[in-house]
Amino acid sequence: MRWILIIFLGSSLALSTSGWTYHPYNKRMNWTQARQWCQSTYTDMVVLQNQRENDYLVSTLPNRTSSPYYWIGVTKKHMNEPWTWIGNNSTWVGNNSWAANEPNNNHITEFCVEIYVNTGPNRGKWNDEKCSSPKYPVCYEAQCNETSCERGRCHETINNMTCLCEPGFEGDRCQTGEGSALTNNYTVQCPPLPRPDNGYLSCFGGNLTFNSTCRYGCNLGFLILGSPEVTCEVTGVWSGPRPTCAYYKQALLAVAGSAALSVLCCLCFCWMKRRKRKKLAQLRQREEVTSPFSEGQT
Ligand SMILES: *[C@@H]1O[C@H](CO)[C@@H](O)[C@H](O)[C@H]1NC(C)=O
Ligand SMILES: *[C@@H]1O[C@H](CO)[C@@H](O)[C@H](O)[C@H]1NC(C)=O
Ligand SMILES: *[C@@H]1O[C@H](CO)[C@@H](O)[C@H](O)[C@H]1NC(C)=O
Ligand SMILES: *[C@@H]1O[C@H](CO)[C@@H](O)[C@H](O)[C@H]1NC(C)=O
Ligand SMILES: *[C@@H]1O[C@H](CO)[C@@H](O)[C@H](O)[C@H]1NC(C)=O
Ligand SMILES: *[C@@H]1O[C@H](CO)[C@@H](O)[C@H](O)[C@H]1NC(C)=O
Ligand SMILES: *[C@@H]1O[C@H](CO)[C@@H](O)[C@H](O)[C@H]1NC(C)=O
Ligand SMILES: *[C@@H]1O[C@H](CO)[C@@H](O)[C@H](O)[C@H]1NC(C)=O
Repeated sequence: MRWILIIFLGSSLALSTSGWTYHPYNKRMNWTQARQWCQSTYTDMVVLQNQRENDYLVSTLPNRTSSPYYWIGVTKKHMNEPWTWIGNNSTWVGNNSWAANEPNNNHITEFCVEIYVNTGPNRGKWNDEKCSSPKYPVCYEAQCNETSCERGRCHETINNMTCLCEPGFEGDRCQTGEGSALTNNYTVQCPPLPRPDNGYLSCFGGNLTFNSTCRYGCNLGFLILGSPEVTCEVTGVWSGPRPTCAYYKQALLAVAGSAALSVLCCLCFCWMKRRKRKKLAQLRQREEVTSPFSEGQT
């Protein structure tokens, strides 16, 4: 009868292929052994994060008439520490999780927690216990792994696993979308760049594929003209114009040339402004002459 029940439960759990699944084991052992058993057979000992998960776990476990106690993955190392879950060190303890008058730490060494899966009023409640006591293990198995989501984070809850995709990706495994077109762009190659005259070139990012950059430098006595960095674009061409290495006199001339140009522009602008001001002044003067009954004289 018990075997039929276990087989029935096993097959019903196996049907839900996504998200966490819970797995009890019908051999009692101490907390450390139970955790090791879970880690070697499934993912780890059960972790609960809220009351809903607590209730769900209890509803999936077989009722036991004798010794209805299962270890859960919450523990502490010293008396004055908070209860801490294995996994991400969460210290969640619900308001109604403990059984009446628990945790009582009767032996000052009750640093492990069992959950009651009986049919009485304590069903689903917790009790602090000595870690060396033999109880039934209950494990969980995670479905998320490194290959579950191509370009996204795998998020799982009970019976549900979802890939939260990076921007530009979609699909149940984040395998499609415009972002994946971008990924394919990594096969785009830019043509090799010639070494500049009087300078050198170093490229990062491997094989001159999309998004790799090359940086120009000039030999001693030469100055760089233009942006020193170019990037391989999606279209397979290098960004921007290539810089050149100019002999410093030439470079200075170029710099002086552009400086002279701006000075010239400035002068031109100032001259035009002055001319305009002069013209305005002349106009005003003429007005004063032609209107004898201006406000000042009345
Ligand atoms: C949990 O806490 C322990 C001890 O403080 C630490 O060694 C471990 O890295 C922590 N784990 C996580 C996932 O934060
Ligand atoms: C542990 O993980 C759960 C869900 O994954 C999260 O809600 C909780 O905040 C985490 N706790 C800590 C202490 O990181
Ligand atoms: C276990 O007992 C509870 C409470 O009596 C009941 O609601 C539940 O259906 C039982 N579960 C199984 C698997 O028999
Ligand atoms: C659990 O059992 C193992 C093997 O019997 C033993 O080595 C270990 O000390 C025990 N751990 C606790 C906390 O009682
Ligand atoms: C990883 O998880 C996927 C389901 O998300 C499964 O199909 C695949 O077999 C798993 N891979 C490994 C190595 O466990
Ligand atoms: C699984 O979780 C995701 C995100 O939380 C949700 O959008 C989706 O509807 C859930 N799927 C099922 C079958 O519950
Ligand atoms: C560059 O291409 C070669 C051969 O195609 C390959 O072996 C190498 O891993 C590539 N390097 C990078 C950084 O992509
Ligand atoms: C291109 O490279 C830069 C810097 O290395 C990086 O920040 C950026 O995310 C990359 N862009 C893409 C689309 O891979």
